[in-house]
Amino acid sequence: MNKEIVVSGIRSTGYLHLGNYLGAIQNYVRMQENYNCYFFVADYHALTTHPDPKELRQNVYRVLAENIASGLDPEKVALYAQSDIPEIPELYLMLNMIAYKGELEKVPTFKDKVRQHPENVNAGLLTYPVLMSADILIHKAVKVPVGKDQEQHLEMARNFAQRFNGRYGEFFPEPQVFRMNQDTIKIMSLDGTGKMSKSENVNATIFLSDEDEVIRKKIMKAKTDSGPTEPNAPMPDYIQNLFVLMQTTSKPEVVEAYRNAYNNCNVRYGDMKKQLAEDMIAFIKPIREHAADLQNDKAKMQRILKQGAEKARSSAAATIAGARKAMGINYY
Ligand code: TRP
Repeated sequence: MNKEIVVSGIRSTGYLHLGNYLGAIQNYVRMQENYNCYFFVADYHALTTHPDPKELRQNVYRVLAENIASGLDPEKVALYAQSDIPEIPELYLMLNMIAYKGELEKVPTFKDKVRQHPENVNAGLLTYPVLMSADILIHKAVKVPVGKDQEQHLEMARNFAQRFNGRYGEFFPEPQVFRMNQDTIKIMSLDGTGKMSKSENVNATIFLSDEDEVIRKKIMKAKTDSGPTEPNAPMPDYIQNLFVLMQTTSKPEVVEAYRNAYNNCNVRYGDMKKQLAEDMIAFIKPIREHAADLQNDKAKMQRILKQGAEKARSSAAATIAGARKAMGINYY
């Protein structure tokens, strides 16, 4: 049976944290078994903000290493760098001919960027959704796992697919959002102020690269209170969050014991955090070490990138040949 094609782009900025792991990566890891997955680091997209070249290269290696250490298997999925696939900018150029300035200027993420960085409103930023559409359509993907913030971009990909098909004949399937949030748990920041995030409060965010002692410190500082005063009281969200974290890292009977203690009003948050810290360390440490080993083994990383690029290019080349033919720019 032919597996459905899934494409997703991974941003190359920032260190991965627990929220990324439990939100996106774990879903990728599940998908790799049942879908034909193309996952890539969106390094061309990163160029819109003119990153320092050395930093960009390091970020790409790191984000790849962290994803592999978290369970993405380069043997099962095509794992590659966007810039290794020249067919992507080729399709991007084609799609730019049917993407209109007016619709691109209306995109909320573009308007945000214009507001935040009025000094750097470059054409790459304006056409960001066109490049993203090329990333997706280049493999004729039908499913794209993305967060809410990217749904508008995906709608544009559908529009461009439709427009292309209308003009040149049925060619691209219309990619749909792959909802990952159904059983995805929201991970809150440890200080109880919103989502765990790489940019907001690094001291309340657990990164996959955090050393044991750092993890211990962050968890011991997590927000708690003086505890429930009546049996089976509803949980404040920051306590609920500790239980969510515990559920992902501790043994079920440990979680159960603390839940009972909470319901009986004799929970000791200090002990609970100590337990959580040790279980979290046991969970993060192998990922951190595996990611570090990979980053130190450039030859291996390069083999992985090459292998991914080969898989991705064979699919991309077929699409480009078909698109050229449809458009009449095939001469041989
Ligand atoms: N724009 C996406 C983000 O910011 C990353 C991305 C680039 C992407 N190309 C993609 C996601 C293609 C899905 C499919 O997270």
